[in-house]
Amino acid sequence: MLERIKEMLDEVAHLSASNAEEIEALRIKYLSKKGEITALMNDFRNVPAEQKKEVGIKINELKQRALDVINGLRQSLAQTDGEETDIDITRTAYPTPLGTRHPLTIVKNEIIDIFSRLGFSLAEGPEVEDDWHVFSSMNFADDHPARDMQDTFFVEAHPDIILRTHTSSVQARVMEHQQPPIRVICPGRVYRNEAISARAHCFFHQVEGLYVDTDVSFTDLMQVLLLFAKEMFGEDTQIRMRPSYFPFTEPSAEMDVSCTLCKGKGCNMCKGSGWLEILGCGMVHPNVLELNGIDSTKYKGYAFGMGIERIANLKYQVKDLRLFSENDMRFLKEFEAAN
Ligand code: PHE
Repeated sequence: MLERIKEMLDEVAHLSASNAEEIEALRIKYLSKKGEITALMNDFRNVPAEQKKEVGIKINELKQRALDVINGLRQSLAQTDGEETDIDITRTAYPTPLGTRHPLTIVKNEIIDIFSRLGFSLAEGPEVEDDWHVFSSMNFADDHPARDMQDTFFVEAHPDIILRTHTSSVQARVMEHQQPPIRVICPGRVYRNEAISARAHCFFHQVEGLYVDTDVSFTDLMQVLLLFAKEMFGEDTQIRMRPSYFPFTEPSAEMDVSCTLCKGKGCNMCKGSGWLEILGCGMVHPNVLELNGIDSTKYKGYAFGMGIERIANLKYQVKDLRLFSENDMRFLKEFEAAN
């Protein structure tokens, strides 16, 4: 009897099962009414009296061991089961954190969107340009102050090669390849040799527009820009034109919009005037048309140009221009909602 108990202790210690049915089968095999251990216990009566104590202890030990092992198997199965149910393979993946668009890109896209709805198409050109496309073709006299070293970055050893100071150079490139009707907007980065401060930077971004056709008037220009202003800053926005000067337009004007903050009443942002300057514009100078191969007796045009930073400042009240190029995440994250 003792021999048999020893064998079974060893057997029970090495039990294994991979699912609930197998565990139940083990329980039945050893511990049920007809189980092997139960059978041993039933045999206990036949054990000689002097062995009863020792055999009794051993049988109890065996029963307890079998219970422990089977319960242990149940527990570890429940744990792995638990792990399996924790993984919900039907669940959508955790979102990968996405970047946000730069505020200047947001505003640029908005400007492009408004003008493309008005029939303007997109034109782009090189940032490293020649003097012709930036200045000469735009009717700048040879001694015009804008060509001065103060404003323009020159490529050393190539005085004719410069960083464009405005995207009018793209308009020149469009006109040299295309006859009217021309209706393009030219977004892009431009460079000017200025000391970097909260209000000025050595580069910024522009969107310029050009429209050339047979019947183009200053009124058309004003109407398009009024629509732009309303789309950009709100339906109740007003515009006003002030006479100005650009070598490439005649007449030329600077356009103001009614202050986006105080709606024209006068506040700090508009310095009490109720108006904010946002762009330069005018009727394309006949010289510019001729210099770019377009018959100025047949065609007329208007042009306008604005700084994207300026528009973004007015929309989002950014006080320091440098924020746009410092890649400070705290600043960029503020535009998450506008994306
Ligand atoms: N090219 C001008 C600038 O850079 C803007 C402008 C474009 C003005 C077209 C009038 C007409 O400041």
